[in-house]
Amino acid sequence: MANYDVIVIGSGPGGYVAAIRCAQLGLKTACVEGRETLGGTCLNVGCIPSKALLHASHQLHEAQHNFATMGLMAEAPKVDWAKMLGYKNDTIGQNTKGIEFLFKKNKIDWLKGWGSIPAAGQVKVGDEVHTAKNVIIASGSEPSALPGIEIDEKRVVTSTGALELDKIPGSMVVIGAGVIGLELGSVYARLGTKVQVIEFLDAITPGMDAEVQKTFQRMLKKQGLGFTMGAAVQSVDTSGEQCTVTYTSRKKDTTHSIDADVVLVATGRRPVTDGLGLEALGVELTDRGQIKTDRQWRTNIPGIYAIGDAIEGPMLAHKAEDEGMAAAEVIAGKHGHVNYDVIPGVIYTHPEVASVGKTEQELKAEGRAYKIGKFSFMGNGRAKAVFAGDGFVKLLADKDSDRILGAHLIGPAAGDLIHEICVAMEFGASAEDLALTCHAHPTFSEAVREAALACGDGAIHS
Ligand code: NAI
Repeated sequence: MANYDVIVIGSGPGGYVAAIRCAQLGLKTACVEGRETLGGTCLNVGCIPSKALLHASHQLHEAQHNFATMGLMAEAPKVDWAKMLGYKNDTIGQNTKGIEFLFKKNKIDWLKGWGSIPAAGQVKVGDEVHTAKNVIIASGSEPSALPGIEIDEKRVVTSTGALELDKIPGSMVVIGAGVIGLELGSVYARLGTKVQVIEFLDAITPGMDAEVQKTFQRMLKKQGLGFTMGAAVQSVDTSGEQCTVTYTSRKKDTTHSIDADVVLVATGRRPVTDGLGLEALGVELTDRGQIKTDRQWRTNIPGIYAIGDAIEGPMLAHKAEDEGMAAAEVIAGKHGHVNYDVIPGVIYTHPEVASVGKTEQELKAEGRAYKIGKFSFMGNGRAKAVFAGDGFVKLLADKDSDRILGAHLIGPAAGDLIHEICVAMEFGASAEDLALTCHAHPTFSEAVREAALACGDGAIHS
């Protein structure tokens, strides 16, 4: 008799959600976690703490730039960095404790320690071997190393160290204009750090709609971030008082250097697969080092499943959560399903950036006939009232059927607005369906409706 029906390895958003769903479906479940708190990267050193710092630094920005306009004549607040980090840590604590509570409520055993799989049906934690009919690997990801650059998490940091700096640096070089680099870069820029982003490609946020990329970069520049584009970072020298970052311009083939107090390396993440015993078990990996699964998250070894950042697909907490729920359902004999065509992506800067479905560039490459409905937040009364008129909603729909194919937003609450479009896409809706849906006034979401109207006879307020 196995001790458990399911043992989940890892308690990040993929793992803890999988564990809860397994328990809800009547399966005896345990979750292995070696950190001192549950929640994985996302809750401890990722999504949640970065959102706390984004919120705090945005409030500072509002006080500095918009309070006086609204007749709020208080002096702009001074930053107490230790207190701000305390607020961030409290936020983490509330969330990780919340998962602990949910584990107790659902009678999920937390096996404390780092787990490995000595054989199918077994999970070793410390010296103890537990048995399980099914194992779900949700081991997540870690920052990928950049050759020639040594991370000390003090002066040369990944996102983990960037959330815990001793003091607000005077200057920072961010390597990589992806999600992490831009979110954390904008935190420090708002707190007064001189931030220079060095990006290998010619556009920021690879894979995003090109119009959004351009608008986003313009807005970030306005907020004080500097950009060096088309440049490959070669090395970081920490022997001096400041860190010296050396990079090569890809087009001109010239080498340059720049000094900064802190260097943030944000050049992507890689799946965590070491230490699990996968090689000995014969679990197949992809050529990019991800655990290979079928469409129902089964690895090639019976009884072993994998989800989240450790497998293929975008490294997003919500994608991992969906896979966690679906894998639990498959194990319970139900029909777990994830629609990979409708997974939103959000960047939590100010303004927020959000997208779902196809970009215009992808539709062009596919040779697909499409139409664009675009609406500027300048035409949205609510956005103007809160200094958020810069930005737009861009909806892409099939030219003939009017079916929504994608949406790209930059503007206020974009990360929330995107979900009405996700729901519409899940239901196979047309742009007209959205346009005919009454939207409350005055809300930011009216801009979504206006973009949908722009796919037809035209938006009203543009
Ligand atoms: P990323 O893959 O989004 O961006 C990395 C950037 O670094 C790319 O633009 C790349 O061209 C550039 N780069 C690589 N090597 C370079 C070099 N030597 N010199 C200059 N530039 C170089 O990776 P990032 O931002 O580290 O994020 C990792 C993962 O975490 C992503 O999959 C992201 O989706 C996820 N994430 C998502 C968040 C969200 O949804 N809000 C927040 C944070 C992370």
